[in-house]
Amino acid sequence: MTGSSARPMFGLLEWLRPGEEERVERVLEDLKAVGATGLRTGISWADWHDVGGQEWYAWLLPRLACEVNVLPCFHYTPPTLGIAPQIWSPPRDPKQYADFLDVFITRFGEHFEWVELWNKPKNPLEWDITLDPNWLIFCKMVGGAAHWAQKRGKKTVLGASGPMDAQWVRLMCDRRVLQYIDAVGIHGFPGTFEFWWDGWTAKIARVRNVLLQHGSKAEIWITETGYSTWRHDEQAQIAAFNNVMAAPADRVYWYAAHDREPAETIDAVAADERELHFGLRRADGSEKLLMRLLRQGGLEAVDNSAWFTGFNGRSGRGCQKPVLITGGAGFVGCNLAHRLCSEGQPVLLYDNLSRAGVEENAAWLCATHGDLVQVQVADVRDAPSLGQAAQHSSAVFHLAAQVAVTSSLTGPISDFEINARGTLNLLEALRGMSSPVPVVFTSTNKVYGSLDDVALRLNGERYEPDDANTRDLGISENQPLDFYSPYGCSKGAADQYILDYARTFGLPAVVFRMSCIYGPHQFGTEDQGWVAHFLIQSM
Ligand SMILES: NC(=O)c1ccc[n+]([C@@H]2O[C@H](COP(=O)([O-])OP(=O)(O)OC[C@H]3O[C@@H](n4cnc5c(N)ncnc54)[C@H](O)[C@@H]3O)[C@@H](O)[C@H]2O)c1
Repeated sequence: MTGSSARPMFGLLEWLRPGEEERVERVLEDLKAVGATGLRTGISWADWHDVGGQEWYAWLLPRLACEVNVLPCFHYTPPTLGIAPQIWSPPRDPKQYADFLDVFITRFGEHFEWVELWNKPKNPLEWDITLDPNWLIFCKMVGGAAHWAQKRGKKTVLGASGPMDAQWVRLMCDRRVLQYIDAVGIHGFPGTFEFWWDGWTAKIARVRNVLLQHGSKAEIWITETGYSTWRHDEQAQIAAFNNVMAAPADRVYWYAAHDREPAETIDAVAADERELHFGLRRADGSEKLLMRLLRQGGLEAVDNSAWFTGFNGRSGRGCQKPVLITGGAGFVGCNLAHRLCSEGQPVLLYDNLSRAGVEENAAWLCATHGDLVQVQVADVRDAPSLGQAAQHSSAVFHLAAQVAVTSSLTGPISDFEINARGTLNLLEALRGMSSPVPVVFTSTNKVYGSLDDVALRLNGERYEPDDANTRDLGISENQPLDFYSPYGCSKGAADQYILDYARTFGLPAVVFRMSCIYGPHQFGTEDQGWVAHFLIQSM
C-alpha cells in the first residue's frame, strides 16, 4: 500500500488439516459473512507425503479458490526428509523444497497467484535453528524455492515472525534471498503475546527501511495478527482489529475464524489458554462482537463502534456517581436505565453486548439521555473491570446474565461462569468497599423448580393457582428452593450468594425472583424472551 491511504486487503488465516472438509465449509461461509476476500492457509509438505495428503490438497485448493483469493504458505518438512525426523527440522537436501513447490504449482498453480515460503522460521516449533545455526540451510532452501516459483510465474512472500523482524529481514537481504521476494510477511499479536509494542506503523517502518536500504521493492503484508479474548474482553479484539486495519500494509490476514477446543490442539498449545480464543466465533459457534459488527455492517460498522468500545472511566455527570447496571443494554436494563435517566440519575451500562441487538438499546439510551449514559463494553467475568465499575457507582442493579435455559444445557460451564462466578466477582468487589453500595439482583422463578406442589385449577381456557393468596400475590418466599436446569442452578447459586453476603457481610442487597416478562426493547428469541418472540412473529 506504499504511498496510498487505502485500507489493506483483509483476509483470514486458518490452518486446515486433512479430513476437515466440514470445517473448511464453515470457514468459507464465515469469510463471506465478514467480507474477507482472502484466506491464508498452510500447505504441509509433510502432509503431502502422508497417506491421503495429495487427495486432500486436490480437493482443498479448487474448493477454496472458487470462493476466495488463496495464499498458500508452504512449510513442515516430511520427517523422512529431515536432518532430524521432525517436521520443524531443516531438510537434508534444501533443493527438495523447491522440487515440492514445483510439483504443487504444476498441479494446482491455477488456483493461486502468490506463494508464501515457510512460516515463523524463528519459532523453534517451525524451524529448528539448532540444526541450522547460521540460517544457511534456510536461505538456500527459501531463496532457491522463491527463485524457482518466480520462474514458474508466481509471486513470493517471505514468511516472517516475531517483533524483531527488521533484523531478520536484513539478514535475508544480505544473503540475497530478498531479490526473489515480492512481499515480506510480518506477524504481531499486540495485547496477547507482544509485551513490548510500539505500534504497527513503527514496526512496519523498520522493515521498510531495511528493504529500502537494500533496494528491495517488496510489499509489506501483515500475514498473522489477531487478538485472543481469553479474558472475555471482546471490545479489545475490536480495538486490535481497528488498529491493524489502519496499518500501512498492503494486506492483513486476521487469525482466526473460530475459537478452538482444548482437545483440538497439541499439548503445548492447549496449555496456553490464550491460544484457544482468537476466533471471530466462540467454540460453541456463537458470534463474538467483532464478527457481528463485520457481518452486519462490514469494516465501516467496526470503525463506527468506537462510541461503545471506548469507555473512558469517567464517573458520571458532574460529581454525581452513576448507578451501575450490569446487563444495562438488555431488555430489563434498558428500561430501568431509561427510567433512572428520566429522573436525572446518571447510569453506567456495563454490558458485553453478547445478546444480538442490544447495542441498539445502548445507542437509543445514549441518543435519548446524552451524557447521563455511559457505556462500558465489558464482561462480568472480568473481575478487575467489574470491580472498578462498582467502585465508581452509587448503587448496583446486577442484571447481566446468560439468560437462556437452552444455552445452559449446551454450555453449562460458561453459564456457571457468567451467572454464578460473575455474581461472586461483583459481591467481592462490593465487600472490598469501605462503604458498600446497595445491590439489586434479578433471580428467576427457575429456583422453585416445577412447582408440582402448587395446586392449579382450570378457569375458562387458563390454569390458575387454586389458593386465593397465591393467585393474588404470587408464589410465597417460603416456597422451598428446587433449582431446575443448569440455568436454574447458576442463577440460584448467585441468588443464594447475594442473600448470604447480605447476612454474613452485611451488604445491603435485594433479590427479585422474576418470571417471564415482556416489554419494549426486548430482543426475544426462541431461546429466551419467547413470549416476545411469538408475539413479534405473529404480528
Ligand atoms: N426477561 C425475563 O423474562 C426474565 C425472567 C427472569 C429473570 N430474568 C433475569 O433478569 C435479568 C435481565 O434479563 P433480560 O430479559 O433483560 O435479559 P437480556 O438478555 O435482554 O439482558 C441481559 C444483558 O446482559 C448482557 N450480558 C450477558 N452476558 C454478559 C456478561 N458475561 N457480561 C456482561 N454482560 C452480559 C447481555 O448482552 C444483555 O444485554 C437477567 O439476569 C435474567 O436472568 C429475566
